[in-house]
Amino acid sequence: MAGAQSSRGRVLSVASECVPLVKTGGLADVVGALPGALAGLGWDMKVLLPCYRALRAGAAGWPVVWDEADLWGGPGRVLSGEMGGVSVLLLDAPHLYDREGGPYSSPVGEYPDNAVRFAALSWVAARIAREGLEGWKPDVLHAHDWQAGLAPAYLAYHGNGGCKSVMTIHNIAFQGWAPAHMLGVLRLPGHAWHPEALEYYGGISTLKAGLVTADWITTVSPTYAAELMRPEFGMGLQGVIAARGAAVSGILNGVDTGVWDPGAEDPAFSAKSLVGKAASRAALCAEFGLEVPGPLAIVVSRLTDQKGIDLLPAVIPDFILGGGGLIVLGSGDPGMEGAVRALAARFPGRVAVRIGYDEGLSHRLFAGADAVLVPSRFEPCGLTQMYGLRYGTLPVVALTGGLADTVIGASPATLTAGVATGVTFHPVDALAFGQALAQLLALYAQPKTWAKVRANAMAHPVGWETSAAAYAGLYERLTA
Ligand code: ADP
Ligand code: GLC
Repeated sequence: MAGAQSSRGRVLSVASECVPLVKTGGLADVVGALPGALAGLGWDMKVLLPCYRALRAGAAGWPVVWDEADLWGGPGRVLSGEMGGVSVLLLDAPHLYDREGGPYSSPVGEYPDNAVRFAALSWVAARIAREGLEGWKPDVLHAHDWQAGLAPAYLAYHGNGGCKSVMTIHNIAFQGWAPAHMLGVLRLPGHAWHPEALEYYGGISTLKAGLVTADWITTVSPTYAAELMRPEFGMGLQGVIAARGAAVSGILNGVDTGVWDPGAEDPAFSAKSLVGKAASRAALCAEFGLEVPGPLAIVVSRLTDQKGIDLLPAVIPDFILGGGGLIVLGSGDPGMEGAVRALAARFPGRVAVRIGYDEGLSHRLFAGADAVLVPSRFEPCGLTQMYGLRYGTLPVVALTGGLADTVIGASPATLTAGVATGVTFHPVDALAFGQALAQLLALYAQPKTWAKVRANAMAHPVGWETSAAAYAGLYERLTA
């Protein structure tokens, strides 16, 4: 019987993205890493995902473990298999997911039926959680972000069959809003149409639905868990989260240290002997035609307002004057893409830009750069600052969310105590960010101090061990 071997419990994780199958951001990294991290602690996890067009060929021939006759305009079936080391359930409903384009949009814009597309995922998740697959009945349904928000709601409103639910917020900026007339269409009961339930500004929020109905709420760092209860971060849902405060916790993400392994980029890479670092840096400068006397910084990011990318034009010129260099890898807001391109045009040999998504290049950037810049206005957890720690690429971060929980900023006190791992700044504006870059230049000019901070950074644990134990503890408490 699948998964029956002495497992502590079974978890059905429900999400729209999962590495290595489909990714637009850190959500996918986390959903893909959790099953492996929890397997080591005896938890048996399956991830339910939509069977997007790109996944169909790989799943051809997989056994059908669930049939759903009426999934908003067509039938659906669930295929079961392994992909990239993850035990996966794919919801194959071609009328919803077999499309040209990304998980949420085509080149023309967002799919108009996203509410229904992800309601379908949540509906099937809740049914499997309630009724169980043959030989595999989940103890916990773990829903990620608005796309899975209706899954705990369906359990709460239609019966949970003994299955507990966890709702994890990766980013509250995305709330899954649908107009009021969709209530019945989404198979939600009339009594849920209430401000204390899922009504939200005259419509329905699928994230709010998950938040009010799940047995427990988590988010991806302790600081973000606290920030979310304040208006400037809660984005309208602060009251909802605060009201459930006794059932909210922040569990910091980890990174996959097998995938993000400096020794894999270059065997000479270590905190003590930075030979590998020097070689990687030289290769990077050659690849991008850069000559940088001071610290070489990188940005690997979605280019959006959340990430504070719009601050770069104000702070980079002084950083360049001070000897620094910059490589930006990312895509997103056309205005921000233009602004970073303009920086590269203004500072040839010092600033380079690659618009696009490139996993291989991102590894080479972390291996070769001296610092990674993460000036986010809010950051639920953030992964790139942790890649930076691991590769001795000092994080320069805004003091918010998971950034505040993972980086110890250099200050006279932290340098004396020998614990600094990067540079932090607050508030998130050009003045503070510019001062942080000035501090980075000053640190770089003191090789012994720089080497100490870098060694601290590389020694800072960023793996999944602690966080996986926290999720395991949560599952255990819920199912006790
Ligand atoms: P978010 O999920 O908000 O975008 P995270 O820091 O949690 O932020 O995760 C972003 C993930 O996407 C990281 O793994 C990062 O390396 C990756 N990433 C972002 N932009 C690019 C890009 N242009 N090329 C390669 N990887 C990228
Ligand atoms: C979201 C957040 C990011 C977090 C990621 C994974 O995309 O923006 O901070 O690291 O989810 O939890």
